[in-house]
Parts: sequence; C-alpha cells; structure tokens
Amino acid sequence: MKTEYIKVKVWDLPTRIFHWAMVMLMGLLWWSADAGEMQWHQIFAYSLLGLIAFRLLWGFVGSDTSKFSHFIYHPKIAFKYLKEVRTRGVSVVLGHNPIGGYMVVVLIAVISLQLVTGLFATDDIFTEGPLYSYVSSDTSAFMTWLHKTNFNLILLLSIIHILAVIIHAIKGDKLVGAMLTGYKKLPRPELSSNEQVNPMFKSEWIALVLFAVLAAVIFSYLIWPILQVL
Ligand code: HEM
Ligand code: HEM
Repeated sequence: MKTEYIKVKVWDLPTRIFHWAMVMLMGLLWWSADAGEMQWHQIFAYSLLGLIAFRLLWGFVGSDTSKFSHFIYHPKIAFKYLKEVRTRGVSVVLGHNPIGGYMVVVLIAVISLQLVTGLFATDDIFTEGPLYSYVSSDTSAFMTWLHKTNFNLILLLSIIHILAVIIHAIKGDKLVGAMLTGYKKLPRPELSSNEQVNPMFKSEWIALVLFAVLAAVIFSYLIWPILQVL
C-alpha cells in the first residue's frame, strides 16, 4: 500500500529567522575576529546578543515547537529514544527530538558563554569588552582565554550538529527543508499516533514587538556608540 503523506507546520517564522540569522552572524563573528575587525566583531556580537535574548524569551512565550517545556524531555525519555534509534533507526518527530532538544540547549548555552566572556575580553591592543575595566587583569586574561577556547568548542558542536542533520537527511528525515520552509511531510499512519500533531503557533506580531523592543535597546545602548567612532 502506498504511504500517504501530509504536510504539517513545524517551525514558526521567528524561529526560522532566528536560526539562519544566527548562522550568518556566527560566520561574520569568526571572520571579523580573524581579520582583526574588532569594532565589527562587537557590532555582530551585540546583534547576536539580541537574537539569543529573543530566542530565550520565545522559548517561554512562543509557539509550542519552540518552547523549552515542549522539547526538554526527562533524561529517561531521552535514553529511551536513543535506544529506539539504535534498534529501529531515526523516527520522524514533529519538533526537536528528545536528544536534539538537549543539543539545542547546549548550543544556546555555549553561544551565551561566548557572548558573556567577550564582554570581559581584551586583545591587548585597541579592543576591550565593555565590562573589561570592572574586573582584575587576571580575570580578564582568563575570560579572554575562555573566549578563545570556548569558540573551538562551538565549532566542534556545530560540526556534530550539522553531521546529525545530514544523518537524519540520509535516513529520510529532511530537517533542513523544515527549518527553511517551516513545513514537514509526515506519513499519515505515523501522524495519527503522534500526540504532538497540533502544535499551537503564536502570532508573529508578538515576536515582532518583542524583537523590536530588544533591538531598540541594544542598538541605542551598545551598537550606536560604536557606529559613532567607526
Ligand atoms: C549550515 C549549517 C547548519 C544547518 C544546515 C543547520 C540546520 C539545522 C536544523 C535542520 C535544525 C532543526 C533541527 C530539528 O529539526 O530538530 C537546526 C536547529 C538549530 N541549530 Fe542549526 N544548522 C546549521 C548551523 C548551525 C550553527 C552554526 C549553530 C550554532 C552554532 C546552530 C544552532 C542551532 C540551534 C540553536 C537550533 C535550535 C533552533 C531553535 O529551536 O531555535 N545551527 N539547525
Ligand atoms: C557569540 C559571540 C562571539 C563569537 C562567536 C566570538 C568569536 C571570537 C573569536 C573566534 C575570536 C578570536 C579568538 C582567537 O584569536 O583565537 C574572538 C576574539 C575576541 N572577541 Fe569575540 N566573539 C563573540 C563575542 C564577543 C563579544 C560580545 C565581545 C565584546 C564586546 C568580544 C570581544 C572579543 C575580543 C576583545 C577578542 C580578542 C581576543 C584576542 O585576540 O586576544 N567577542 N572572538
């Protein structure tokens, strides 16, 4: 019998924009640090700070599939899922799967750590993070070391993240398409047994207002002063 597929909405527009803007900014942050363009490095970093702050809030008040409470499962369930993957292969899940959910938390945590350590870092030439002068030179040296080391961890985790996405694609679970278009094609029998089949999506206007407020504060207090001296 031919399997019938049905198109289901998985990711809202704000979450998709967050993801691809973050990927772009991570690239720009890497480039600007390498090229010694430290003013741009700070501008990109503050833009990312806005995005991450937005994503954290959206994780509490946003659409079901973006909510932390929706994709952070009890460790027991995560282990059970891992066992199932070993025996039956990857199954198609509507939002983040129980393992993927933990990876999302880890990725957001290491990016946040990178942002915080950057605020205290120095290149010992022209550039100091805005909180540099509030700590001792030893603390700042440690934060700078952590900033450099943690970036290597981010790179490693990004590679694992991208490999996981490729493995899913090979096994027939097309995650990238869903992160681009917002929709996933699911087989109808699997769908009927999936209790998360009707996720709630919040209005994009709420996201826009939240983001506009964050962007206005970050632009006026952090980005505008740098643009003045560029
Ligand atoms: C070209 C490279 C990348 C591709 C193709 C990609 C693809 C994806 C896909 C398909 C998802 C959804 C996973 C799911 O369905 O559960 C996702 C989620 C995510 N990715 Fe990536 N990704 C890339 C790079 C990155 C990088 C560099 C980072 C950060 C360092 C990152 C961080 C995240 C985070 C935090 C999520 C969770 C999204 C959310 O719930 O808001 N990704 N990615
Ligand atoms: C997630 C955001 C960030 C990423 C991905 C990032 C990435 C990097 C990378 C790759 C380096 C070069 C490390 C090396 O030389 O090996 C660097 C250096 C640096 N970053 Fe960031 N950074 C971020 C946020 C920030 C923030 C918020 C600030 C301060 C406002 C900042 C300030 C600096 C400084 C001062 C250095 C120079 C350290 C040195 O060369 O000794 N960064 N960053």
